[in-house]
Amino acid sequence: MNFYVLTASDSAFNGQREDLSGPEIERILIEAGFISVGYAVLPDERSLLAEKMREIADGGSADLLVTTGGTGFSPRDCTPEATRDVIEREVPGIPEAMRCYSLQVTPMAMLSRAAAGIRGRTLIVNLPGSPKAVRECLTSVLPALKHGLQILKGAVNNCAGGN
Ligand code: MTE
Repeated sequence: MNFYVLTASDSAFNGQREDLSGPEIERILIEAGFISVGYAVLPDERSLLAEKMREIADGGSADLLVTTGGTGFSPRDCTPEATRDVIEREVPGIPEAMRCYSLQVTPMAMLSRAAAGIRGRTLIVNLPGSPKAVRECLTSVLPALKHGLQILKGAVNNCAGGN
């Protein structure tokens, strides 16, 4: 399975802070057997983020596109909106599961508006912006996510025996 990481952050894009979350996603997914096909940092601009997501999904090399950041309440947070601009089929269960798990760790989890969905053969998943949140959210959905990606790729037909 190939993945692409897209960090949405004005400050990381401007060089005011180092992006730690994007590399953390890469580390977790590579350890889980995924192959990295790209990484980019963009500012919190809805049209730029949507354009990049479209380009990655339509390019055909990424089975999974994971974004980090821009899911909260700040006026410039717009990653879920950009995601909904490009997905064709929403997958609400993934962010529901992440929030459900994360609420056991912190009540702040309810402040993430993360979304997920499918465009063509690419699954797009939003994660919050902090490395801690990335670890908690990603590890909570990873096993089911792998199975979903296999179905999306046509490698397995359905969920029979998938549990
Ligand atoms: N989810 C987990 N698992 N762990 C966390 O520490 N932080 C929350 C939430 N989700 C958090 C989490 C906080 S404090 C915020 S503001 C929102 O994610 C949105 O984060 P973002 O704006 O960086 O995307």
